[in-house]
Amino acid sequence: MAKPSKKIITEYKKLIEEISEHNRLYYENDAPAISDAEYDRLFDRLIELEKKYKDLQSPDSPTQKVGAKPSKGFEPLSHRIPMLSLQKVTSFDEFIEFDKRVKNLLETTDDVEYITEPKLDGLAVELIYENGIFMRGATRGDGTTGENITQNLKTIKSIPLKLSAKTAKRYPLLEVRGEVIMKLSDFEKFNSKLALENSPLLANPRNGAAGSLRQLDSKVTASRPLLFYAYGVSDNNLEKLDTQQTVIEFLSDEKFLINDLIYIGESVKEVKIIFENLANARPDLDYEIDGMVIKVNSFESQNILGQIARAPRWAVAWKFAAEQAETILEDVEFSVGRTGVITPVAKLKPVKVAGVTVSNASLHNEDELRNLDIRIGDSVIIERAGDVIPKVIRVLQEKRNGKTNEIMFPKSCPSCNESIYRPEGEAAYRCINISCPAQLEGRIFHFASKGGLDIVGLGDKLARQLIEKKIVQDPSDLFYLTTEILLPLDLMADKKADNLLREIEQSKKSELPKLIYALGIIGVGETAALLLAEHFVSFQKLQDSTIEELIDISGIGPNIALNIIEFFKSSSNRIMLDKMKSAGVQFPDYIKINLSDRFKNKVFVITGTLTKPRNHYKNIIVDNGGKVAAAISHKTNFLLAGENSGSKLEKAKKLQIQVIDEAEFNSLLS
Ligand code: IVH
Repeated sequence: MAKPSKKIITEYKKLIEEISEHNRLYYENDAPAISDAEYDRLFDRLIELEKKYKDLQSPDSPTQKVGAKPSKGFEPLSHRIPMLSLQKVTSFDEFIEFDKRVKNLLETTDDVEYITEPKLDGLAVELIYENGIFMRGATRGDGTTGENITQNLKTIKSIPLKLSAKTAKRYPLLEVRGEVIMKLSDFEKFNSKLALENSPLLANPRNGAAGSLRQLDSKVTASRPLLFYAYGVSDNNLEKLDTQQTVIEFLSDEKFLINDLIYIGESVKEVKIIFENLANARPDLDYEIDGMVIKVNSFESQNILGQIARAPRWAVAWKFAAEQAETILEDVEFSVGRTGVITPVAKLKPVKVAGVTVSNASLHNEDELRNLDIRIGDSVIIERAGDVIPKVIRVLQEKRNGKTNEIMFPKSCPSCNESIYRPEGEAAYRCINISCPAQLEGRIFHFASKGGLDIVGLGDKLARQLIEKKIVQDPSDLFYLTTEILLPLDLMADKKADNLLREIEQSKKSELPKLIYALGIIGVGETAALLLAEHFVSFQKLQDSTIEELIDISGIGPNIALNIIEFFKSSSNRIMLDKMKSAGVQFPDYIKINLSDRFKNKVFVITGTLTKPRNHYKNIIVDNGGKVAAAISHKTNFLLAGENSGSKLEKAKKLQIQVIDEAEFNSLLS
């Protein structure tokens, strides 16, 4: 056995550190920093080193663990039977090796019967049924202990809360396992909604699913389009269930969602054909898969095969080959998205990746440019994962010659030329010009939305026409619309035009909080808009405010304060506001009518799952003169805490802030 050199030891330690950090980002923050293929590359190298140098095997190596530790926000829940991970193969040859090992251990030369299932890319969970009733559910966590996310799982409609009487009797304890996913179409719809609200977007469907499930407030989970697909039971010694196929049929009978691309492969050749068909079907599926899981169908055989450290010997994940290629970065252009985010786009020397010619790839943001240490003229590796936009994942530094050029991040918006700005805590530069053509559609929808000026009748088709015909070039142009302008447009009958104009006229009298919200300042949602209106009373005072004044308002942090200052600094934004005023928008002072002053000068924070919507409590607090802040600080007087209160509860206790439940809140009120 070879002795590792100093260089190898350093590499090994660095790999452990890097992979552990990526595990943390992926499993705990639901925010991966690298692609799955890149992760696999690091992991494979780690395995390679450990195989070659037995001395290296460190107990804290990620090869010794599954996933990540449960987060502190949830109660831990131990799995009665560990939730294992899967060995993987990436080629037919490797699958044949797997099959040989299986046959060896089963002491047979006959074909083994396999069952194949798409490897869904979501979050693994376990559902525990006692006497047929769904009692508890958990994430996989580190394989032994997961997070108790029962309340969140209960909001997923495809999870049956009650099983049949026969099953309840036959299996008093039943642990069902499967994957929570977000469909691609739902993911896109949901992100469009978030974009219009100016909220941060979900990174991808997988993180959308994982992030949604690990919300401390189950109302948030309930609002997300999640599905649960069952793929097994924890225990392969249950009466009447003696193959994976019978389990799948049983789960289907019990009304669990089952994937419809599950097949039996009677030989390795058949499995290969199924795999190829699945790879071909992949681009048309409405959910993400990253390979195919192949399981020995018979439980008797599974029990003989048993398991090794992290994974069973009776199953394997055949992963799709990473779709990578090498090319040259010829230039970088900058594009402005619908929410004002400025994205560097790599212009590549065209190259074929998995059958498709690629000449553009995303470079995400300025930090990514720096992390990649990329220059124009560099040789780069790009990757197409599924159907999404290709990414530049690595620079081949060793191929760099003297002829590369530095990439200059623009100082102004490529669409409207206004100066751009990087909000604190964000990786992206944004154009905050409310009149920026690239963002106009999103801005107009937000402006006219229910929380904003609430202009009913301004549907997407009409808004698009107005923008295309350049009738509306910023939100204030809505106030200059007339019947003569509207009538010639498609879909505009007399009555419709009249109604819309009446709505617009009415919106000129909107209250101050709605006006502030409508501007779409980054981070200023309805709550912050209300806080600002209450504090400044007049719009002009808000517009003239200083950063110190803004930070002083409880509920307005330094990041939002900076965004507000930057918003009003922009000359385009000021011109737009003047146009609104000239058109007769009133910007009325904010008059708050309180039911009482009971909560005067009192700041509340609300957390956890309550029996009534948060807004119910928020309204009562505000109507009685109090304030509601998003985060705990020394200015907080009360934490109204429901079930599953996580980090906020801890922080409140630390700062010795009074914690009250709903009953105590009601008695404060009466
Ligand atoms: S079986 C011991 N079946 O893949 C068996 N897993 O590494 C392990 N996954 O995150 C699980 N689809 O959630 C199994 N049809 C399927 C699966 C599947 C996706 C995920 C699983 C876990 C990972 C296992």
